[in-house]
Amino acid sequence: MADVKIKGLYKRYGSFEAVRGIDLDIPDGEFTVLVGPSGCGKSTLLRTIAGLEEISGGEIAIGGEVVNDMRPRDRDVAMVFQDYALYPHMTVRNNIGFGLKARKMPQPEIDSRVDAAATMLGITALMDRLPRQISGGQRQRVAIGRAVVRNPRLFLFDEPLSNLDAQLRDEMRGEIKRLHRDISTTMIYVTHDQIEAMTLADRIVLMRDGVIEQEGAPLDLFERPATTFVAGFLGSPKMTFLSGRMVRVEGAVTIALDDGPRLPLPEGRIPDVADGRAVILGVRPEHISRATGPAAAPGSARLDAVIEFLQPTGSRTYATFRLGRAQVMAEFEAHDTGRPGETVPLDLNLSRASMFDAATQRAI
Ligand SMILES: Nc1ncnc2c1ncn2[C@@H]1O[C@H](COP(=O)(O)OP(=O)(O)O)[C@@H](O)[C@H]1O
Ligand SMILES: [Mg+2]
Repeated sequence: MADVKIKGLYKRYGSFEAVRGIDLDIPDGEFTVLVGPSGCGKSTLLRTIAGLEEISGGEIAIGGEVVNDMRPRDRDVAMVFQDYALYPHMTVRNNIGFGLKARKMPQPEIDSRVDAAATMLGITALMDRLPRQISGGQRQRVAIGRAVVRNPRLFLFDEPLSNLDAQLRDEMRGEIKRLHRDISTTMIYVTHDQIEAMTLADRIVLMRDGVIEQEGAPLDLFERPATTFVAGFLGSPKMTFLSGRMVRVEGAVTIALDDGPRLPLPEGRIPDVADGRAVILGVRPEHISRATGPAAAPGSARLDAVIEFLQPTGSRTYATFRLGRAQVMAEFEAHDTGRPGETVPLDLNLSRASMFDAATQRAI
């Protein structure tokens, strides 16, 4: 078990900076997910922690000890890769135990650790097979087993589920979560998939172009994104961004959407920006409901809009509307949708919507 402290970390490839001054404190036992679009530096950051990449500046400490100059094998860290990296000619049993054998652990101790890990991962029936004789999901379990038997103080995962089909990914996500609950070792997990990040993380570290854009508990980032980038990255279907201006009318503060309606902002949700300022309203599908009753609920604005098209998912149906120049998506009960072309009254919950300054793209 160990905490991880990263200070002012840089990684350069020639003149290109893949990691540009990262500070990050990961408490002992936490499940941290590094998430962000492809190329933002997630793997590079993870590999510097493992010692697989030399750093260009800054400091990495694991369990209170600076490891900048420590060899990877001395860091007591186990890493699981997207492509499993199993030895094709070795049985499952030998793949899992290989690292222990290489460290000259006595065979009975290896056997008992390998058996315990195999039981935990539900692969005891596969022990004598070769990697090519098992499925992708089973291979990934073997790769995780190989990390688990080492009993490291820190687990690093680099997109371990990205090669699996959607159903197996869901299942393995649950397995990894259970593994963390059972062994409570610190885990750092890299993914580009925001659902994976939301569902696994105690804390999400959202990266962009080699820096941390925002970090925090999954629901904090989801409900209070610091920037339009974070707001747009987390959530599916995506948040809609509506541009407009702050307009004060007879004491009320409204957002006048470009070529669209004016939405009166509720008390307590009025940002401290000048009249006329260009702003962006960020609305998630679940912030828009089909209106019922004579008036909008407190904190919501009522407006009429025409349904452009519907996308049923089974439990919910997503309805797309035109609002001024923009399209917005609303989440409806599956059977309570109306039809394309129909005008329906909507309640837009402005007390839950996000607002950003258009110039800075930062939350206001
Ligand atoms: N060995 C390397 N040489 C040069 N550039 C690299 C090397 N490894 C990664 N990069 C670059 O660093 C950036 C971050 O890469 P990476 O950490 O793999 O991104 P991610 O894992 O977030 O998709 C990318 O632009 C990538 O092209
Ligand atoms: Mg990567």
